[in-house]
Amino acid sequence: MESVTDQPDLFTTAGKIADLRARYQEAVLDPEVVAKQKQHAKGKGTARERIELLVDTGSFVELDEYVRHRTTAFGMDKSRPYGDSVVTGTGTIHGRTVAVYAQDFSTFGGSLGEAAGEKIIKVMELALRSGIPIVGMLDSGGARIQEGVVALGKYGEIFRLNTRASGVIPQISIIMGPAAGGAVYSPALTDFVLMVDKTSQMFVTGPDVIKTVTGEDVGMEELGGAYTHNTRSGVAHYLAEDEDDAIDYARTLLGFLPDNNMSELPAYEPVFEFETTDADRSLNTIIPDSPNQPYDIHQVIRRIVDSEDFLEVQPLFAPNIVIGFGRIEGRSVGIIANQPSQMAGTLNIEAGEKASRFVRFCDAFSIPIVTLVDVPGYLPGTDQEWTGVIRRGAKLLYAYAEATVPLVTVILRKAYGGAYIVMGSKQLGADINLAWPTAEIAVMGGQGAVNILYRGEIKKAEEAGEDVAAVRTRLANEYTYNVASPFLAAERGELDGIIEPAQTRVAIAKALRALRGKRSTLPPKKHGNIPL
Ligand code: HXC
Repeated sequence: MESVTDQPDLFTTAGKIADLRARYQEAVLDPEVVAKQKQHAKGKGTARERIELLVDTGSFVELDEYVRHRTTAFGMDKSRPYGDSVVTGTGTIHGRTVAVYAQDFSTFGGSLGEAAGEKIIKVMELALRSGIPIVGMLDSGGARIQEGVVALGKYGEIFRLNTRASGVIPQISIIMGPAAGGAVYSPALTDFVLMVDKTSQMFVTGPDVIKTVTGEDVGMEELGGAYTHNTRSGVAHYLAEDEDDAIDYARTLLGFLPDNNMSELPAYEPVFEFETTDADRSLNTIIPDSPNQPYDIHQVIRRIVDSEDFLEVQPLFAPNIVIGFGRIEGRSVGIIANQPSQMAGTLNIEAGEKASRFVRFCDAFSIPIVTLVDVPGYLPGTDQEWTGVIRRGAKLLYAYAEATVPLVTVILRKAYGGAYIVMGSKQLGADINLAWPTAEIAVMGGQGAVNILYRGEIKKAEEAGEDVAAVRTRLANEYTYNVASPFLAAERGELDGIIEPAQTRVAIAKALRALRGKRSTLPPKKHGNIPL
C-alpha cells in the first residue's frame, strides 16, 4: 500500500502536474503495455499503434482517455478501465486533419457499451461539425452484452450519425478483427470498407447460430473473412494483406478526397505533358482488329491518369467493371470503365451496383467522373432477371442521371443497347462525349442484328448452298459500318468529337478544364427514390 508521502501534494501546482502524469501513466501508458501483449500474440496491433501508423508522426491528439463506464451489472463495477474499449482523437494525414477511432479488443473484447459508444459519437460529431473525414478501425465483439439495451442504443446513434455524415464527410472503415452482429452496419453505412486478410471478419450471424438455425457448416473465414467480402459479397472495397497495407491504402485513398462536400478537391502540382507522348501513341494499337478479342482496360486507364497512378477500388468484386481514383492535371477524378477481359465487359447486377455507388460517391464529393466505354450489353440469363437486374440495374442509370459533377465519356469500342445509354451517355447528362474511330454505337452488335434483320437473306444463302458464315460476316460488317459508325452519332451531335486514341489523355484534360466551373442543380426535393 502506498504511504501518504508517496502521494503528490495536490495543494501545489507541481503536485497537480505530478498527479496528472501519474494518472496518464495509469490511463494510457500502463494499459498500452498489456494491450500490446494481448494483441501482438494474435498478430494484431493495438488501437494506439494502429492510429500512430495511420496519422502523420506525432500528430495524434487523443480525446477522452479518462472516460470510464458506469455499469454495475455482472460485477462490471470491479473493472473500470480508463478510456473504455476505444481510442478516439484527431490527427493529420499528409498534413490534413482527420478524425479517428480505433476499437481496443484488449479491453472487454472491444465491445461497445455506453462509454465507448459515447466516445465514438463524440468524435463523429466533431468530424461532422469540422468537416473532416473520419476513419474507424474496427476490432470488436459488438454490443457489450452486459449493458443490454444501452449498448444497442449507442449503435443506433452511431448508425444515425453515419447516415447523417454520408455525402458530407468521407467515412472509411478498416476492419482489423471481428465485426459481429448488427455492428457490421456501421461500416456498411460508410463509403469504403477495407479488410485485413485472415484477421478480420464481418457477419450478421456467426457460424454457431447458422449451424443451429439452418444446419449449414461454415467456418468464420469462409463466412465473413476479408476474401469472401472482397470477392463474393462486395461488402469490402479492398483486401489488405496486413494491417500496414490497409492503413497505407486508407492514407492513399484520402489523398484523392476532399475534406467534405463543400471543400475544394486536393490539388497537386500537375505533372502533365501536353504534347502527345509515346505512351499516348501506344493507345492507337490497343484495340484489336477482331471485335471479340479482349484487352485489359487498365492499360488505357494508366495512360490517362497522371504518372500512371491509379488507385483501384473493389478490384476483386465484379471485375467486369473497373472503378477507382486517379489525377488529371493534379486533380482527382473518378474513373469508371468496362473491362473487356472479364465477361467481355458485360454489365451485370454486381457491376451495376458497384459502379452506381461509386458514381454517387464521386458526385457527392464533387469529384469529376471519366467513363470509358466498351460494353457489349447486359449479361443475359434467368439468374440476372430473377435476382432483379431491372430494379438493381436501374441504379446506375439513376446515379448517372442524378450526377451534377463534370462527366466526360469516351467510347472506345462497343456501346450497345441500354448499356450504351447507362454508361455516361449524353442523354443521361454527360457533358463531353468523345469516341475513338473504333467505336460501335448501336442497338446491338453486328452478329445479333444480322440474325434479326437479314433472316431472309441468310435462309436464301443456306438454300443456295452458299458459305453462310461468310455471308453473315459480310452483312454484319455492312451493318456495323452503316449503322454503328461513330460518325453517325457525331453527325447528330450525340458525340462531341471523334479522336485518335493517342489524343485521349490530353482531350480528357481539356474537357475537364472546360468543365471546372460547371454549375448544375437538381429540382428541389427532399430526396429522390433510387431503386434499391
Ligand atoms: C462483452 C465481450 C463481447 C461482447 C467479446 N467479449 N465480445 N464482452 N460483450 N459482445 C469479451 C469476452 O468475454 C472476452 O473477455 C474478451 O472479450 C475476448 O473475447 P474472446 O471470446 O476471448 O475472443 P475471441 O476468441 O477472439 O472471440 C472473439 C469473438 C467472440 C468472435 C468476437 O468474443 C464473440 O463471439 N463475441 C460475441 C459476439 C457477439 O455475438 N456480439 C453481439 C453481436 S450483436 P475476457 O474477460 O474473457 O477476456 C451486436 C448488435 C449490434 O453487436 C447492435 C445493432 C443494432
